[in-house]
This record gives sequence, C-alpha cells and structure tokens, in this order.
Amino acid sequence: MNVFKTHLALNTFLEQHAPASTGLVPTMGALHSGHLSLVKKACDENDWVIVSIFVNPTQFDDPNDLKKYPKTLPADLDQLARLKEKLVVYAPNEDDLYPNNTTPKNYPLGPLATLMEGASRNGHFQGVATVVHKLFNAFNPSRAYFGEKDFQQLQIIRQLVALENLSVQIVNCPIVREASGLAMSSRNVRLSPQQQQKAPLIYQTLTTARKNKTTESPQQITSDVTAFFQNHPAFELDYFCIVDSKTLQPVERFLPQQENRAFIAVKMGEVRLIDNIKF
Ligand code: PAF
Repeated sequence: MNVFKTHLALNTFLEQHAPASTGLVPTMGALHSGHLSLVKKACDENDWVIVSIFVNPTQFDDPNDLKKYPKTLPADLDQLARLKEKLVVYAPNEDDLYPNNTTPKNYPLGPLATLMEGASRNGHFQGVATVVHKLFNAFNPSRAYFGEKDFQQLQIIRQLVALENLSVQIVNCPIVREASGLAMSSRNVRLSPQQQQKAPLIYQTLTTARKNKTTESPQQITSDVTAFFQNHPAFELDYFCIVDSKTLQPVERFLPQQENRAFIAVKMGEVRLIDNIKF
C-alpha cells in the first residue's frame, strides 16, 4: 500500500492508473471499526480509494484536546493494508495542507455551524470545512464518505458542497457501535475502565428517550435526560436536544411528517463524547 506525504505525489501516482472513480475517506487517524466501515463502503463503490489521515489543527479550540488526540499511524496503516489493493493513504505534514498559515477560512455556514457542537467548540466547523475543502480541491474525488456519528458535520459538509458548487457526491454511513451500544470513537481509548463501564448509558438514554416519544413532549424528554446526567457523578452534560434532522433547529412538538434526531454531548473526565439517534 502506498503512503504519500504530499498531495502532488499522490496525484502523480494516481494519474498513472487513470482511475475510473475515486472515493475519499477523510479521517484524523486512530482508526476503529467505524472508520473501516466508511473505507469498506468506499472500496465497494469506487475504483481507487484515498484515505487521508491528518489531525487538523484548525478544528480544535482546545490545545489540550489537540495534543491528546490519539496518533496511531503504524496501526492505522496496518488495518488499511488489508482492505483493497487500489487504496492509497495520504498522511501529510501540516505544510502540505496549510502551506502559508493555519488560519481557517470563514464560510457562510449559517446557524448550522453555531448550534450544538458549533456552540460548544468555537470555530470548530470553520476548521472542518476548511480542511475538507482543501482535501476536495487536492483530489477532486468522485465521492467522499462521512459517518453519521458526526451528523452535524455531515450537514455542514453538504452545505459546503452546495456553497462552493462542488461536484463530489457526499455519502453518509450509519454509526458503528460497540457491543455495549457505545458509539465507536477515537476518543474511547482515553476512557478509564470505570468510565468505559458507564459510557454505554449515553446510548441507553438515547434509546429510552426515543421510546418515550410516544407519550412525552420534546421538552419533557429533554428535562428528564438533563436531570439524569446532572445527577450522575460520572458525566458532565454539555447538551441534549431534539431537533429537526434537516435544519438542526430544536422542535417544540413531534410532527408525523418531520424527521427528528436527538443529539447529546457529555464529558467523562477530560474526554468529550457525542452521539445521536434518529427518532
Ligand atoms: O470527522 C473527522 O474525523 C474530521 O472532522 C475530518 C472530517 C477528517 C476533518 O478533519
């Protein structure tokens, strides 16, 4: 499997193989089964697949979080090498993607970027949009793959594609969960054994909330979930909300023709975890 540090070298290599289509899977490494499900789908649907591994500094508002983000390149390459012959990895240094400065762009992303993760992580989505746009420009992929765990990010990317009139097709992939129900995340390895035991409560709460939809209002469910986490010593609740899946605006009542989703972000010690569920 070929691993490239520069997009120019990767493109030169791919040009020699004249791919019929290319699928891009942008990642920040520390690959787990969730990432691999995206890569496998990309492998099924494209001639060549590019997996990018780059911990993007412009999407972190907390330097400590950036410093502690797990970096496991040799293990990542090992997992990818087994998947497809026509798969290449782009694992650049910062200056290949940010040759002049590491300042994010300022896209008119609107309210999508200031709710939930956007409200809690200042400038996060401008950083995501900046790096994803750079990757799209560098490789001009036919398709790009994103997981629904970062559902808000997925909507932001779709908005970026519309704003910049890009031709790439955005493919969404379902959340992959551990047997306990905990959504797979590169951050899970930072949980202590005690925290790992309690973390499945996040998804259990989401499924209970969904069940209660038939008898309770969004406000009642939100207040129950908030009370549960506020009284639990292992968690610090950042937000729980029930929103319209398209606009991500909170809903006042459940309407039959509207698709809703519940989103949650909690901290367990220093580790921030997010999850969501379709109602
Ligand atoms: O979801 C991620 O891992 C990152 O936000 C992404 C899309 C690779 C951009 O850095």
